[in-house]
Amino acid sequence: MSPLPVSFSWGASTAAYQIEGAVAEDGKGASVWDTFSARPGAIRDGHTGEIACDHYHRHTEDVALMKDLGLDSYRFSVSWPRVLPEGRGRVEPRGLGFYDRLVDELLAAGITPTPTLFHWDLPQALEDEGGWLNRDTARHFAEYAAVVAARLGDRVTRWITLNEPFVHMVFGYAFGTHAPGRALMLEALPVAHHQLLGHGLATAALRAHAPAPAQVLIANNCTPVRTPEGATDADHAAAAAYDALHNRLFTDPLLLGGYPDLSAYGLTDPTWGGVVRDGDLTVVGAPLDGLGVNYYNPTWIAAPTVETGLPFDILEPDVAVPGRSYPRTAFGWPVVPDGLTELLTGLDARYGAALPPVWITENGCSQTDRPSEGGEIRDEARIDYLRTHIEAVETAHARGVDVRGYFTWSLLDNFEWAEGYHQRFGLVHVDYGTGRRTPKASYHWYREHIAQARRTAP
Ligand code: FCB
Repeated sequence: MSPLPVSFSWGASTAAYQIEGAVAEDGKGASVWDTFSARPGAIRDGHTGEIACDHYHRHTEDVALMKDLGLDSYRFSVSWPRVLPEGRGRVEPRGLGFYDRLVDELLAAGITPTPTLFHWDLPQALEDEGGWLNRDTARHFAEYAAVVAARLGDRVTRWITLNEPFVHMVFGYAFGTHAPGRALMLEALPVAHHQLLGHGLATAALRAHAPAPAQVLIANNCTPVRTPEGATDADHAAAAAYDALHNRLFTDPLLLGGYPDLSAYGLTDPTWGGVVRDGDLTVVGAPLDGLGVNYYNPTWIAAPTVETGLPFDILEPDVAVPGRSYPRTAFGWPVVPDGLTELLTGLDARYGAALPPVWITENGCSQTDRPSEGGEIRDEARIDYLRTHIEAVETAHARGVDVRGYFTWSLLDNFEWAEGYHQRFGLVHVDYGTGRRTPKASYHWYREHIAQARRTAP
């Protein structure tokens, strides 16, 4: 396998609500996740992010783990309501101070801080005004970006605006299985445009307010769309419709300056009924310094067999590809490393010169990791997962895709949204009773991998 260049960046990712805890400390305002997780039945077993990994108090220990791991970069998210408790206006200096110290600790450890400004924890005060259904939220997001950039931007040079606007729209606003818990189905579409507009406005704000040059990325959830064996024309049309919604809706306007054809969803008016206004697409399409790609698995799509109101059916892989049984993670997600090569080379083929450098901003798996009697966590399946997915990145790189870095999800076991603490994604095991961190076998493997990649890189 052709090795990745010495400049290739090795990282790990987390997100504020999933690890920090301290949800009401130092003046932090409520987020939609505080509200949602208090709703009976919303989260498996009633778990909440109240304590999570207690990273807010244990960040020094966590940075020491990252340093020992040999990370080049660490992707974390800034909690908007920690910095602006009402979502706009008044800045909470203690909240901002937390990230200021974290950035200094990372830099002292030789790690490039890579903050994401929005990883789903919208200030509740803004949700009360309509959240991302309200166009004004995009403007408030840019104001918040300017505040963070002015404080951290002398030391932070790589920023990520949004995390997975697709997943946030679908789970948060279309199905209601994530915060803010709204089940609007296709009426949720304005959430896509308002997030992308927020991304564009925040991009300009970061570049204007950060004292040092700001590289700006967005982290999209991307999936290669596959069709079943013996697919019909109707299956291919369904796959194209799904691809438009999951992938192109979030990359075409960023890279090509316009939305894909959404007529399969009954949307033929280019303004989406007045949602997309004059000049918006120029803001959204501001040049990016990199595209963040979060990859978990491909999606198999066929023509709908029953009337669901959607122009596709999502198939289980075993149904789509009879006789082929993919390994599954504890979440039940199929493990398909070559899907990552397919995704990266597919982006390159689709966008060509318009594709900026790519960063894998999330990739990882949940497993049922339990300490053995000797206290070790032998997560061999995670090691296989990481090794094969990193090889898939190497293959894409060898085929000419300009991929610059790999962040695994996640550094620590953490609060996995609607699943609560049931899915463990970390390289480091967290005992939620005591907060105790135990590096798993995968942590030691990744550490050795990074060191070796550095030694042998061209
Ligand atoms: C992604 C999210 C991340 C984590 C992983 C497993 O969709 O961005 O926060 O939950 O899935």
